[in-house]
Amino acid sequence: MRWSGKCPDCGEWNTLVEEVYQEGRAESQRSPLSVAAPQKLSAVSAEDIKRLPLAIAEFSRVLGGGIVPGSLVLVGGEPGIGKSTLLLQAAVSIAQNAGQVLYVSGEESIQQLKMRAERLKVGDSDLYLLTDTNLDNLIFQIESMRPKLAIVDSIQTMYLDSVPSSAGTVSQVRECAQRLQALAKSTGVPIFIVGHVTKEGSIAGPKVLEHIVDTVLQLEGDRFHALRLLRSVKNRFGTTSEVGVFEMAGSGMVEVSNPSEVFLAERMMNAPGSSIAVTMEGTRPLLVEVQALTSFTQNPMPRRTANGFDYNRLFILLAVLSKRLGLRLHDQDVFINIVGGMSIDEPAADLAVAIAIASATKGVPVPSDVAIIGEIGLSGELRSVGQLTARLNEAAKLGFARCLLPKTARPIDSPFSNLKLIPARSVGEALDAVLSD
Ligand SMILES: Nc1ncnc2c1ncn2[C@@H]1O[C@H](COP(=O)(O)OP(=O)(O)OP(=O)(O)O)[C@@H](O)[C@H]1O
Ligand SMILES: [Mg+2]
Repeated sequence: MRWSGKCPDCGEWNTLVEEVYQEGRAESQRSPLSVAAPQKLSAVSAEDIKRLPLAIAEFSRVLGGGIVPGSLVLVGGEPGIGKSTLLLQAAVSIAQNAGQVLYVSGEESIQQLKMRAERLKVGDSDLYLLTDTNLDNLIFQIESMRPKLAIVDSIQTMYLDSVPSSAGTVSQVRECAQRLQALAKSTGVPIFIVGHVTKEGSIAGPKVLEHIVDTVLQLEGDRFHALRLLRSVKNRFGTTSEVGVFEMAGSGMVEVSNPSEVFLAERMMNAPGSSIAVTMEGTRPLLVEVQALTSFTQNPMPRRTANGFDYNRLFILLAVLSKRLGLRLHDQDVFINIVGGMSIDEPAADLAVAIAIASATKGVPVPSDVAIIGEIGLSGELRSVGQLTARLNEAAKLGFARCLLPKTARPIDSPFSNLKLIPARSVGEALDAVLSD
């Protein structure tokens, strides 16, 4: 019985929360799901859940093809990234096509919401706004209105009178989310909640919040670039490998249906140190430009900087390049940049990065019509990567004439007559193929 600021279990500071013991079972803990009797699986009717179609195709795809009735979706993202904007657009889309939508904001006034709506050029629709932070009132409103969709912006501003701590605390957030989940399941109203993220980038509040909800979406992007990626981190109704690409504009979040074009738009042709990697974002191929710069240094500990690429992976690639190919890198600072604020975390981009570095050191440009795919092993061998057809398709679609890729035992039958494949067994072979002149 003394002051304690640090959790003896995980060693984190300021994570202890006071929980007041209540006689009996709190009303909020009674789940409407638990009153039902068991049903035989085969007796459950297999009627298809009818998803609400969403006019924003990129958003709809990330959700798994529309909004599932009765689902609770958490949308997280850094401050000012565009969560409210995207959800307002989704609300308008449903309000115009399906019926009433309730948008609850605990952060902004009705006037602020109106201003945003005007910026987004929202026409007349069945969209209702409510600014309140009392969850009991909100639940009452949703129960009596039964909208097609409800949006709660944000979960950290909502509070329940029955929970003694202040809004945004772990117990409030958890309790509010549980109540909303129960509400969504009992009324069939899909509810989207906005969640703040902490400085470390995870969604603020307890980790259990992510377990309570059905779907967790994360809106990411560089604040200095207009591109925004909507990723699904967890989805009970679809794959988590989809990603939606948007561009932040004055008129709101604009869908980008061909992101590769955007990433390659400002490419300087025939500059040494630039190469094109064919990466995958979920099931979607994405061509991105990798830039490398090397410059002579007398510092015994040369600098290695990676922007958008794994730092440790860069060390491995540098070691392979100097050991297997004899590239002189020990007196060179090496900088890697993935253009467009993107970050690549798949090994399939290894070869593109290695070739960009070699091209920068040698001062020889990579031909601009070559796209590069391949993972590099420690002995300098190239390893095959997954979803090759999708990658090749995208490269062909964007007008690349040649594609450098790992040589596999099985010959790749290329359905793309205008894309010439250059198979290589090792990094050395790959370099000879594109940097020979
Ligand atoms: N007139 C404008 N033109 C272009 N972009 C704008 C304009 N007004 C606002 N924005 C963009 O919208 C962003 C704010 O969007 P929004 O309010 O949806 O973010 P949010 O994620 O809800 O933020 P918060 O966490 O603070 O609620 C700004 O950071 C800015 O990039
Ligand atoms: Mg907001």
